[in-house]
Amino acid sequence: MTLVQEQGQARMCWTVLTLFPDMFEPVISSSLFGKARERGLLDVRLVDYRQYANGKHKAVDDTPFGGGAGMVIKVEPLAAALDSLRRENPAVYPVLLRPQGRPFDQQAARRLSNKRHVALVCGRYEGMDERIAGLVDEEISIGDYVLSGGEAAAWVVMDAVSRLVPGVVGEPQSVVEESFGSDNLLEHPHYTRPREFRGMTVPEVLLSGDHAAIELWRRRQSIIQTARRRPDLLAQAELDDDERAWLKEMENDVD
Ligand code: 6GU
Repeated sequence: MTLVQEQGQARMCWTVLTLFPDMFEPVISSSLFGKARERGLLDVRLVDYRQYANGKHKAVDDTPFGGGAGMVIKVEPLAAALDSLRRENPAVYPVLLRPQGRPFDQQAARRLSNKRHVALVCGRYEGMDERIAGLVDEEISIGDYVLSGGEAAAWVVMDAVSRLVPGVVGEPQSVVEESFGSDNLLEHPHYTRPREFRGMTVPEVLLSGDHAAIELWRRRQSIIQTARRRPDLLAQAELDDDERAWLKEMENDVD
């Protein structure tokens, strides 16, 4: 087990149960996690659950009952690893990462950011003994595609959740204002110097110094980009009556 930081004072603790703990070296030394750990906000621990396997070969997988190709992750090593975690912290919240899980989105990230200690269980190979699902509080999938293991998904979940923990991301305002912040809209476009690049210019309003006009433009860009690119999100977006009327007008203009 790699103990990155003493548990206790950190706002949030992650334990990743994986057969490939080395894959997380770049994650825990990344700027998001590195700084948060230094400042005592986050704690990341890695558990190689092979250490909980029995027998000379410490087998973590076996052939499937009923036959078929491939190997299946055994239930006992993970059960032993989770039992040990629970003894240490009865409030730990174990999550299984697999394609069959509940789709992960910003709302799920917000929900997990309120937990004190989340344990992410990474599956591998062709499958896992179904009884592993009975050991966890929740199952998560990060999208409709198949990864060869849960490790990449664990990185995604840890990033999306950790940056919502107060103090982890420098300016809280930038977390609130961005895509999916609170209103389910995509973020507005950004520009920096130069004013013109290969014939592409910066919208005039951003150079105007008129802060009210800029705010209005940004808000409307968020709405229009969401309507064009992700109409599925717009259904749950928080728009006021004026904005809904304006959007309707815009859509009518296009027809
Ligand atoms: Cl969480 N795990 C794996 N193996 N594949 C996935 C996934 C998770 N989410 C989407 N595809």
